[in-house]
Amino acid sequence: MRCLADGRYHSGETLGALLGVSRAAVWKRLQKLAAFGLDVESVRGKGYRLPGGLRLLDEDVLAQAMAAAGGTPGALSLHLYDVTDSTNADALALSRPGLSQPLAVLAEYQRAGRGRRGRAWQSPYGRNLYLSYAESFAGGAAALDGLSLVVGVVVAETLSDAGLADRVQLKWPNDIWVDGRKLGGILVELAGDMDGVCVPVIGIGINGALSDAAAAAIDQPWTDLTRELGEAPDRSRLAGRLLAGLQQALVMFRQQGFTAFSDRWRRYDCCAGADVTVQLGERRITGLARGVNAQGALQVEVNGVLQQFHGGEVSVRPLR
Ligand code: BTN
Repeated sequence: MRCLADGRYHSGETLGALLGVSRAAVWKRLQKLAAFGLDVESVRGKGYRLPGGLRLLDEDVLAQAMAAAGGTPGALSLHLYDVTDSTNADALALSRPGLSQPLAVLAEYQRAGRGRRGRAWQSPYGRNLYLSYAESFAGGAAALDGLSLVVGVVVAETLSDAGLADRVQLKWPNDIWVDGRKLGGILVELAGDMDGVCVPVIGIGINGALSDAAAAAIDQPWTDLTRELGEAPDRSRLAGRLLAGLQQALVMFRQQGFTAFSDRWRRYDCCAGADVTVQLGERRITGLARGVNAQGALQVEVNGVLQQFHGGEVSVRPLR
């Protein structure tokens, strides 16, 4: 079915001949593609096509883009998968015995993509970016305060350079937003020793082009790069730039912690100055968002008193 990657029409006969199977078998395989979240278009007399075609992940393109963005691809062990359950689960499993060097896992499709708070992350084939990055930190989990916000800064800056300047925003702690719609998300999970050498696995999902079927399963306003930019940037290049950004940011984060990033985070903060509601289990606290503190905790002014939040789900109401 690789020929469908060109985005052109291919008749059932041609596909059958290429694959050495009957037209009925072709039809079955096309249905499998649909189950992978790909919209296969079928037009009588013309055949089948994947609108927009597909550009699969390419290790060389990724490494070149990473080097061009100031990263060091050689410092990384790179795992590119076609189909997997979750790149975060893979990176956690690979990190468990300990890491001799940082690693990155990317996949075309996730069967069980993981979102924050136990949610599923819609992961259709070949259109979006699913990337996990891991490196070890001595000093345990305590050394990682604010890390997920730093990752948000890297993603926002990379997407700004890719054409979303002045449009991409961060919703605390690290949702990637454009005009109040979710474009991507970050999930940091931990392997290793929480009091010793600890390995944060940084998972980044960015919507490149969501099919209607995948979008229907999302329970909040969403968007994708195709809608925002007219055309999604090449995923391998985007991944290379993100990895270069992460490598550089983590060097600084090790030395200086989140404080070194607070100005950069503020540039993208969509909450500051807005009325927000923080949902903490059964509790809902409403107040005026006042940015983040030196550890990356959300500050909310509630009845004139500043409160700090280290967790919780934030919803934002329009600016006053
Ligand atoms: C969120 O809910 O906002 C976080 C979504 C994180 C999704 C990414 S996709 C790559 C990595 N692998 C996963 O299973 N999840 C993360």
